[in-house]
Amino acid sequence: MPQLFSPRADARLRVALALGAGALVMAAAAGFVYVRSDRAWRVGVAAPQPIPFSHAVHAGGIGLDCRFCHAGVERQAAAGMPTAETCLGCHRQVWNVAAQFAPLETALALQVPVPWASVHRLPEHVRFHHGAHTAAGVACESCHGQVWTMPRTVKAETLSMAFCLGCHRDPAPRLRPAEAVFSRDWQPGSASQPTPADAATPRLQHFGVEIPALTRCSTCHR
Ligand code: HEC
Ligand code: HEC
Ligand code: HEC
Ligand code: HEC
Ligand code: HEC
Repeated sequence: MPQLFSPRADARLRVALALGAGALVMAAAAGFVYVRSDRAWRVGVAAPQPIPFSHAVHAGGIGLDCRFCHAGVERQAAAGMPTAETCLGCHRQVWNVAAQFAPLETALALQVPVPWASVHRLPEHVRFHHGAHTAAGVACESCHGQVWTMPRTVKAETLSMAFCLGCHRDPAPRLRPAEAVFSRDWQPGSASQPTPADAATPRLQHFGVEIPALTRCSTCHR
């Protein structure tokens, strides 16, 4: 039987196959790295807002408490968003740039919520409750980062399932005493605070935290 392909053609085919397989592996690896990157989770990406609101000015500079505008955080599932009245209470007097605040006046006139864009939505199948976390001693900072330094609001953590479980498997070292939940300079084990290791067990008991329940699928999924 005569040779159909020259030895050179055979060699070329082998090289081509090897390169093709290599490229597939590289593409799969790149995809794997990307879906796990902060970029895929939109960490650090701001959303277009109806008004260029700045937490750095209001929560940082002026020093307003988070609860002034997000009044639900201590008891409700949703943190809640400020109404037009909350802003206009100050902005009809100071810094009244009418054009900039037009979306607020419109919302007020139509009696609808201000259309703030969210950077933190979880998928429909996930359950979340702010009040449960605040009451257990979890600070806003644990999930939202140092919001009071942000000129534009961005996601500071992925809020992926792995992120949630990272704490739910062992929350004790991340919990604060009740009076420090809204503090902006609290450090674990600082000053008169007990160290997390010593504090863990009594604090878990104090807050009634039960670890196995926190990692059950039904805790977070509907
Ligand atoms: C003066 C009112 C005001 C105060 C005080 C305030 N916020 Fe906000 N917050 C807003 C407004 C308005 C938005 C929507 C616009 C934006 O995202 O910038 C917002 C958005 C957010 C979001 C994003 C919500 C989403 O759906 O993605 C988080 C998280 C947040 N605030 C946390 C905080 C924390 C933590 C504090 C305290 C350090 C705080 N805020 C203090 C008014 C306020
Ligand atoms: C306690 C009073 C108070 C409340 C409530 C308040 N503001 Fe302000 N805001 C101020 C002051 C004071 C300034 C000016 C800060 C400065 O001089 O840098 C300001 C500045 C601003 C600016 C322009 C400055 C900048 O650089 O971002 C915008 C836009 C703004 N506020 C939007 C809002 C919105 C939207 C709300 C409601 C969610 C709100 N403010 C609630 C007091 C307030
Ligand atoms: C354990 C993590 C965690 C902590 C702690 C936390 N948040 Fe959130 N926050 C989230 C998640 C997750 C969402 C998105 C919720 C959703 O899509 O159902 C969210 C959404 C928000 C929103 C959007 C609007 C809404 O009504 O929910 C605001 C505002 C907010 N958080 C403010 C705060 C403030 C202020 C604190 C501190 C008192 C805080 N959060 C503490 C995880 C957290
Ligand atoms: C820094 C620690 C921490 C992080 C991060 C965290 N949690 Fe929790 N979570 C807790 C603690 C502590 C409790 C227990 C509260 C209790 O026992 O009352 C809890 C309770 C819950 C509950 C039960 C609420 C209820 O009604 O009793 C749900 C649901 C939940 N977490 C969802 C989430 C989701 C979803 C995320 C990620 C977006 C998340 N948690 C991130 C610490 C955390
Ligand atoms: C502490 C809260 C928490 C617990 C406990 C938890 N999950 Fe999740 N899970 C999440 C969050 C948050 C997301 C959504 C992440 C995203 O896509 O934004 C998620 C997403 C998922 C998804 C979709 C994955 C995807 O890529 O979109 C599946 C499937 C899932 N979880 C299964 C489970 C199973 C099975 C268990 C029990 C072994 C479990 N989860 C326990 C928080 C939790």
